[in-house]
Amino acid sequence: MVCISNVVVVGAYWGDEGKGKIIDLLASGADWVVRFNGGDNAGHTIVAEGKKVVLHILPSGVLQGRNVAIGPDVFFNPETFLKDYEAVVSSGFRISGRILIDERAHVIMPYHIALDAGLESEGDIKIGTTKRGIGPVARDRASRTEDLSVADIISPYFRKKLLSVLAAKKDELVRHKIIGGSEETSGYADGIVDKYSGYAEKIRAFVGSVSYELNSAIANGSSVLLEGAQGTLLDIVHGTRPFVTSSNTTAGGAFANLGLNPKLFKVIGVVKAYPTRVGEGLLPTELNDDLGKQIQTEGGEFGATTGRPRRVGMPDFVALKYSAMINAVDEWAVTKADVLAGKRFRAAVAYEKNGERTEQFPFSLEGWKPVYSSKTYYFEKFTEADSVLMAEKGFNSIPEGLKDYVKDFVQFTNVPVSMISLSPKREITVVKGVLEGTKRYLE
Ligand code: IMP
Ligand code: MG
Repeated sequence: MVCISNVVVVGAYWGDEGKGKIIDLLASGADWVVRFNGGDNAGHTIVAEGKKVVLHILPSGVLQGRNVAIGPDVFFNPETFLKDYEAVVSSGFRISGRILIDERAHVIMPYHIALDAGLESEGDIKIGTTKRGIGPVARDRASRTEDLSVADIISPYFRKKLLSVLAAKKDELVRHKIIGGSEETSGYADGIVDKYSGYAEKIRAFVGSVSYELNSAIANGSSVLLEGAQGTLLDIVHGTRPFVTSSNTTAGGAFANLGLNPKLFKVIGVVKAYPTRVGEGLLPTELNDDLGKQIQTEGGEFGATTGRPRRVGMPDFVALKYSAMINAVDEWAVTKADVLAGKRFRAAVAYEKNGERTEQFPFSLEGWKPVYSSKTYYFEKFTEADSVLMAEKGFNSIPEGLKDYVKDFVQFTNVPVSMISLSPKREITVVKGVLEGTKRYLE
């Protein structure tokens, strides 16, 4: 078992770093596993007890009987929540811990989903969203008056509040053909109330205050694991705007969103051995060649939520150093190192534009080209049996080429590594000796 106290897990690149597996691994030592941001735009794939489960909103700790919570700044789609719940039960897992959904969470309504598609086709800038309604519900959250919370949908005044929200939105709903005319508002509201009242009854028992519950749990010695969705470079503030999501994906965001004391947490940044990106926006180290295709296929780089192929790039140390800074990362967890076996790869160590060179990750990536170190990394392919042995024997037994790569990015980012994942399977993860070994690189 991996020993933890309180930990926040964030993605270092553009999401899909394999946070699900790392959280699943850490969950065995946690009393609570908590989602702090995003919504069902996320897809966490977990392979546990020989079964593969994809969860979109329900924290994966549920598979191990942990208490799980959905925080107050999460965009909450009750339909997806109930589907996740069903998926867990029908895969044969028993839900034995508590489930807590914050009363403040922002509820995704059918018109958010319809507007997400509509707004994407209307504007000049296409973000390539997951079309789960995230942008539109985030806009309503900022409006303060057009947001419906979990507390609203379980209240007797739900219909009244919904009607007032729809009144404010009617022109936009008509323009996007979500309703034919404002006279349809009342009938449209009835349909939503029907459906959402059903959801409300099913979730009512889970609703409460996550901030109170967690602060009190921590005060009483419980350990809490915070699970981020998406990655640092998709953060609404620090990411590659405008091609970002609508929530805070960073460690600081987690504490702000949940109302928790940052001083009580360790930050683990999950780094996939190579970056990927779905949706629009530049991926500076993008590979448009056979190597990229090979990594995409062997790494199964297709969206867990949308099925879209993920673009693949060379490792980007500049982006990782930025992520380390923004999140105050204490330790990296490296995932999918096995996918790079048998391939020659390099790493970006600076950016360049019109003769200007920088080691800072640029705000607008437009025109900036990655500068690669002259070094080529390579290690031979290994079998699953080999990787089981490596996990048993620890850091010293991993291939020299992989060690060399790890050493360079540890030194570049000034952050050690505590885990190296060599397979989607929970047990095939090298933990033994990793932190000690990589801390030595920083002496
Ligand atoms: P939205 O979050 O659906 O609004 O999408 C905004 C951007 O974030 C798009 O580029 C999406 O592809 C990306 N995105 C959102 N959620 C995820 C995720 O869980 N993994 C990877 N990319 C994501
Ligand atoms: Mg994902």
